[in-house]
Amino acid sequence: MDHFNYQDNALFAEDCDVAAVAKQFGTPMYLYSRATLERHWHAFNDAVADHPHLICYAVKANSNIAILNVLARLGSGFDIVSGGELARVIEAGGDPKKVVFSGIGKTITEMEYALKLGIYCFNVESIAELEQLNQVAQRLNIIAPVSLRINPDVSAGTHPYISTGLKENKFGIAMEDAVATYQLAKALSHINTKGVDCHIGSQLTELQPFLDAMDRLLALIDQLSSLDIHISHLDVGGGLGVPYDGEQPPHPEQYAAAVLNKLGDRPLTLLFEPGRAIAANAGIFVTEVLYLKNNQDKHFAIVDGAMNDLLRPSLYQAYHNIVPVLKTSGTSQVYDIVGPICETGDFFAKQRELCVKPGDLLAIRSCGAYGFTMSSNYNSRPRAVEVLVDGNKTHQIRQREIQAQLWQGESLLPE
Ligand code: LLP
Repeated sequence: MDHFNYQDNALFAEDCDVAAVAKQFGTPMYLYSRATLERHWHAFNDAVADHPHLICYAVKANSNIAILNVLARLGSGFDIVSGGELARVIEAGGDPKKVVFSGIGKTITEMEYALKLGIYCFNVESIAELEQLNQVAQRLNIIAPVSLRINPDVSAGTHPYISTGLKENKFGIAMEDAVATYQLAKALSHINTKGVDCHIGSQLTELQPFLDAMDRLLALIDQLSSLDIHISHLDVGGGLGVPYDGEQPPHPEQYAAAVLNKLGDRPLTLLFEPGRAIAANAGIFVTEVLYLKNNQDKHFAIVDGAMNDLLRPSLYQAYHNIVPVLKTSGTSQVYDIVGPICETGDFFAKQRELCVKPGDLLAIRSCGAYGFTMSSNYNSRPRAVEVLVDGNKTHQIRQREIQAQLWQGESLLPE
């Protein structure tokens, strides 16, 4: 459930009229709801309340410092994949002791930065990375807390681009190499092996793949224990899906109950890395219809937002519900909703029935995750403004870019 609802015929974000917010800040605009973000975070946190755990929000989903700050105030941890994301967490008031660092290509500089800040652990994805981290930690005279990301080789049943837990994917350490890698980690002087970790993919709508992965990881943890390698936490990754198009993914409560049930009485702290499940339905993207156009029997609604603002439909053929900000009566038409960018792939939706005219506003739903964070300046388009609604108040949490920012850092050749 989210806090974007119609009051009469006007779309509201919490207690704010979306059309009025768009008038104030302009379009294209990302608009987030604080109450929805908090509600989703609590849904996860409360579901595992009685068991030692840490919810590490996946920063890549939406990394605006105001969003991170809202979650940090709730006591959230963070899953990061770069030094840049770590810097954002710190800037937002997040606690480095609640940060897990994922990703297959951590640089020495990033390792040093995270070691000095004292993060919760590094989710290490290869032997080469483990050895590098040991060396960096030795040089700094710090013991690096480590969890090994294991690739359990299970199919997540999701889009191939966002499936990560199969042998053919670049992520994690193969199950067959897991025990030997833990033994190596134990032998390294500046590594403290704390955890086992996995992340099998994103936008999962069934529980079974999560549970299959857990079966394999728990068998590994039991085997390690018999080899005198004792693990204190299990990180089950992120990946819980959201309803974009009528899907019915498990509620965090069902998901957590199933995970706790599988865990049995093993005294392991549980870590979760949800991104989408917290942020996706806490945001909409608001765009204005510029022109209507017919090419013979095809109808296009050309809007002021584009694939540089919201890439998911172009990149994954992702479905996003599109609704009018103000419902009007009149004859509807089936449109492709497209942006101004010079690419055939620049579309938000195909074949949607809408009643619109130039100047009308459309809201693209479920854009709070992997929306703004994947935006670019393609076609030299300044990136959109971001606004957070809190009850009846609005806060601009990122200014719309101005043109001079587009070439900031570029320079002309000398005369
Ligand atoms: N942990 C790790 C190690 C990850 O790689 C990811 C996402 C997450 C957690 C969070 O997953 P979530 O709970 O959000 O599913 N751009 C794509 C999604 C890419 C996800 C990459 N990894 C999209 O727009 O669908």
